Amino acid sequence: MKIVLATRNAGKIAELRRILSGFDIVGLEEFPSIGEIAETGVTFEENALLKAHAVARGAGLPAVADDSGLCVDVLNGMPGVFSARWAGRHGDDQANLELLLAQVSDVPDDKLGAHFACAAALALPSGESRVVEGVLPGRIVRTPRGTNGFGYDPIFVPEGEERTTAELSPEEKDAISHRGRAFGALAPIVRDLLAS
Ligand code: IMP
Repeated sequence: MKIVLATRNAGKIAELRRILSGFDIVGLEEFPSIGEIAETGVTFEENALLKAHAVARGAGLPAVADDSGLCVDVLNGMPGVFSARWAGRHGDDQANLELLLAQVSDVPDDKLGAHFACAAALALPSGESRVVEGVLPGRIVRTPRGTNGFGYDPIFVPEGEERTTAELSPEEKDAISHRGRAFGALAPIVRDLLAS
């Protein structure tokens, strides 16, 4: 059974293939007629669902989509769905991270709680859908450390760790990540829904 993952990111495709073994997971590159899908939702769930529905409609196949970001407690959960464009320009990881650190510069260390969140959605061409969320709790550190990962990884330390997620190996991060947890929670739902 073929499932389209609403991304062109090879890493995400490989990760979902590992979690949803037995399914033929393909990326958006197989469907060039499906253009960019604007992330107009104000929650991770909304964005994951709108992407999954758009791809399921466009491809005529079951589709999985995810949306993720960093939620900082003292910023009332921001950058949240704006994580990729927090400093104004989409995908400028360094500027996003620097702006966030400037915003919390006067906040005491013990008040720097944060979590990564990821919503993963499945939509069928019929319009039926499901969405689940995965979370990685932790805290922000003021000095970036590590070269693995992307985005806010150099300033995020998961609960029970001293290393940032940029200092973890890809395998270590995969095993605990918000994305891994969301895809892991979606997997039995996909199997149930597509088997029936
Ligand atoms: P997207 O869900 O791939 O669109 O990611 C949204 C944004 O959230 C990214 O551009 C990063 O800024 C941030 N983000 C999401 N997941 C991670 C992560 O695992 N590490 C670091 N930053 C992340």
